[in-house]
Amino acid sequence: MANPNQEIKYTQLFINNQFVGAKSGKTFGTINPSTGKQIIDVAEGDAADVDAAVQAAKQAFARSSPWRQMDGSARGKLLHKLADLIERDINVLANLESLDNGKTFGDAVFDMNCAIDTFRYYAGWTDKVHGSTVPSDGPVMTYIRKEPVGVVGQIIPWNYPVLMLTWKWAPALAVGCTLVLKPAEQTPLTALYMAALSKEAGFPDGVINVVNGFGPTVGAAIVNHPDIRKVAFTGSVETGRLITEGSSKSNLKRVSLELGGKSPLVIFDDVNVDEAVEIAHNAIFANHGQNCCAGSRTFVHERIYDTFVTKAAQMAKSRKVGDPFADGTQQGPQIDEEQLNKIMGYIESAQKEGAKLQAGGKRSGNVGYFIEPTVFSDVTDEMTIAREEIFGPVQSILKFSTLDEVIERANKTEYGLASGVLTNNINNALVFANAIEAGSVWVNCYDYVMPTTPFGGYKQSGHGRELGYCGIELYTETKTVTIKLPTKV
Ligand code: NAI
Ligand code: MG
Repeated sequence: MANPNQEIKYTQLFINNQFVGAKSGKTFGTINPSTGKQIIDVAEGDAADVDAAVQAAKQAFARSSPWRQMDGSARGKLLHKLADLIERDINVLANLESLDNGKTFGDAVFDMNCAIDTFRYYAGWTDKVHGSTVPSDGPVMTYIRKEPVGVVGQIIPWNYPVLMLTWKWAPALAVGCTLVLKPAEQTPLTALYMAALSKEAGFPDGVINVVNGFGPTVGAAIVNHPDIRKVAFTGSVETGRLITEGSSKSNLKRVSLELGGKSPLVIFDDVNVDEAVEIAHNAIFANHGQNCCAGSRTFVHERIYDTFVTKAAQMAKSRKVGDPFADGTQQGPQIDEEQLNKIMGYIESAQKEGAKLQAGGKRSGNVGYFIEPTVFSDVTDEMTIAREEIFGPVQSILKFSTLDEVIERANKTEYGLASGVLTNNINNALVFANAIEAGSVWVNCYDYVMPTTPFGGYKQSGHGRELGYCGIELYTETKTVTIKLPTKV
């Protein structure tokens, strides 16, 4: 690959269809996690920049604005055009993503293709969000309209920068909202490139705004802004609480939250063990374990437990860790030093609490934030690694004997984002699928996330569902119009 730094054209804030510096003139460095070195300085926004972005988004949402006057079908064409431009620049975007985030180039290309599919899926909804007419008692006619909620704030994490942006932008734009997005401070580069593509696609001034910066400044300014009507967030439970609190203390803006998990993958003894080992491996190690729906509790039936552990350890040891741009690399670095230290702390706690280290357990290489794919067996429900979200390449293998027992243990968590079950017994699969408290259940597969199907969590994994028609509902208000009819004409 050519020098990916050459692809960096945009480092400012994007407000009202213009790239502008921060009002304060401040900048911050974005880091390459493969080297730990700074890539480039980007503008660092603050409350004043958020306010400018909100004013632009508010104007773009005014009743007579080009955006509000635009037909739904025309919004659909803009979303398709944006998808076309991602397709055209897929290599540039994937290079920037690998550089700034550390994910492998192949994974970055995969993410871009998912983003393209998602923009096209929502392009299809733009002229299909129907209201309805409702039979009412009395001489009245009632119809229901779905309307955009207004200016929305969107705060995203660093693990899937373009994809998380897409999950937020596509449904909001499909229904006619205007938006202010804050990318994660670790990964601003692709969001800025996407902003440039949105301008090229032809979105009117002020519809899309991007303000880079930190959570307590830019993030909090979005959460507390009186003119933002909804905030959509993906990230930690801790920040999710602050967002709910900020909404409550400001203008009660609508809040949707996607907050990660501690997802169980349950493997019965009637499966092909090699296939199960591979599914479980990908369920936890995909995206270096930095995945909200990672299968981070691998429950294995006692009759195949020992064989499974041996094979899982072998597979982890053969996983290729290194330069995300090199051919054949399966795992790049963790996102930053803070995450690296947090994950190494969990590995240490597991050893102290009596889990058996079967593979990995150390940092990998002398530079950057690489960690060896790590496998622990003999993990019990009480251990810290079985309870807390690690968000790293650490597989925890637990043993179970019966369906009832494993359902109870799988549900013994405040998280409820995803889950999986591998079995050839349809009764086990269906009982598990009904009983598990999680927003997604994968049977004989894992991590199938599609634009067409709702995604989100039970319990403290969040509020609301993104994707599918649920994504449309997150960004619409429902209005009832009742008209009295003459009794005689
Ligand atoms: P975080 O929740 O702090 O960051 C996510 C986003 O929220 C970023 O854009 C950040 O700038 C913003 N943010 C932070 N504080 C804020 C505030 N006070 N108000 C408004 N926005 C704010 O997550 P962080 O620190 O990057 O990672 C911590 C842990 O969170 C991870 O180890 C992982 O367990 C979990 N996480 C879960 C994700 C998911 O996909 N559900 C994604 C990222 C992290
Ligand atoms: Mg944080």
